[in-house]
Amino acid sequence: MNTEHMPSYDQTAQLAKAEAGVDQLFSQRNDRWYPSCHIASKGGWINDPNGLCFFKGRYHAYYQLHPYGTQWGPMHWGHVSSEDMVTWRREPIAMAPSFEAEKDGVFSGSAVISDDGKLVIYYTGHRWRNGVDEGTEGNLQEQCMAISEDGIHFEKKGVVVPCPDDRIPHFRDPKVWKQGDTWTMVFGVCTPEHRGEIWMYTSENMVDWTFVGPVYKHPDPDVFMLECPDMFPLGDKWVICYSAMGLKPKGFESRNHNNAGYVIGTWEPGQPFRQETDFHLWDDGHNYYAPQTFQGPDGRRLVFAWMSPFTSPIPMENDGWCGQFTVPREVELADDHLRTQPIREYAQLDQNRKDFGPITLEVNESRTLLADAATADIDLEIDLAHSQAERIGLELHRTANGDHTLVCYDDQLQRVVLDRHCNSYGDRGYRTAPLDRSDGRLKLRIIVDHGSIEVFVNDGLEVLSSYSFPAEGAREIRLIAESGEGQAIINSLSIAGLATIWEHPDRN
Ligand code: FRU
Repeated sequence: MNTEHMPSYDQTAQLAKAEAGVDQLFSQRNDRWYPSCHIASKGGWINDPNGLCFFKGRYHAYYQLHPYGTQWGPMHWGHVSSEDMVTWRREPIAMAPSFEAEKDGVFSGSAVISDDGKLVIYYTGHRWRNGVDEGTEGNLQEQCMAISEDGIHFEKKGVVVPCPDDRIPHFRDPKVWKQGDTWTMVFGVCTPEHRGEIWMYTSENMVDWTFVGPVYKHPDPDVFMLECPDMFPLGDKWVICYSAMGLKPKGFESRNHNNAGYVIGTWEPGQPFRQETDFHLWDDGHNYYAPQTFQGPDGRRLVFAWMSPFTSPIPMENDGWCGQFTVPREVELADDHLRTQPIREYAQLDQNRKDFGPITLEVNESRTLLADAATADIDLEIDLAHSQAERIGLELHRTANGDHTLVCYDDQLQRVVLDRHCNSYGDRGYRTAPLDRSDGRLKLRIIVDHGSIEVFVNDGLEVLSSYSFPAEGAREIRLIAESGEGQAIINSLSIAGLATIWEHPDRN
């Protein structure tokens, strides 16, 4: 451990200042799009989920936080916790920059529980090489360690994995797990040749780390950095996932500024990873990045991601906050890819579920289901085998001026579409997800919050997560059938409202 980088100024004062920064933004917050059933900071900017864990009877979710503004800036770790992943409590900000190696930011990382029962965080200490910005010199990034007895207060231990080469511009986001008696760490690297790789280190004592080698090298020369890599066992397979910088769009795929996905294969310590599948996006929506998984106390593999607002305009920036997580999802293996669905506990937030189905719509018919739904958890099943409409689906966040986001089955594309072209606020554009039509029906579960929509296709075989910022006034949900030779047949349709996730909604 490199103790020369030990705390050089008062972290307590930095944390107090950061809390005041968040409070200041909170006091001016406009709630028109602020989520009530997703994790977000009560003020300021957030990005990646960090340090996800279950520790001493509570789930902990930390996150990249800029407490002084609604755009990315010097990174801190914000913190929320929960007993059941349904109701969340705001916790004090966990880490602020406090020593030389992290002076420009406490970047992303992960949490493990040591054999003596402490919470140990590995994260990246970040500095600009030129002292000001990334410039052409890049970043000086090193993996650091911090320890906590209670998950709330952290003692920083300094740098444990220094950057081995001055020509490396990106070197960050450690994910750690225990394999037998060995601690294993992976993180993302941009090599001096500008290629994206995932490097692996191991340790017997959690402090001294030995370089094993690259465990994954991205084959595409455009991909220069693999942010927030994760590596975990699932069934008899291993999954490697990462958030790729530089990946170019290809048809329907990888259309966002940066894109998060995974490959599945097999792996044993000391052996190379054997990839068995192609790269698959975690999520086909506009806003999904930097997912981090962890194992729940019952063995489930759980994942949170950041709904990344990469493309302007980003209107929530004017509202005192910016950025939210996706709902917590469970990850399962489904042949050659992953199925992700909201954790079953999420159903506890359901309020006043209303049954609307079955319904048959004539050509170009539409029907208002709810006159004003700020939040909704929708279950919809469409009979594809017997429907002839060209598009069948729901207009969500529909306001009096005609703005809405359409989620539908599109028979020309034979895909599920999330289309924001009718919106006055935020980025527009559409995204699509493939589907298997072989059993003649399509199941959609759709979670609507004040400023976001998540669509789970056929029990999470595909997902689309996107921000959607409705205009002023009541937010209608409308069922539509568009064009085609005949009817749209809905086998079943029900909609619930969603309760808030906050333990103290009045203070959040
Ligand atoms: C991904 C990322 C990470 C980094 C963090 C900084 O969104 O760029 O690679 O650690 O965000 O906030």
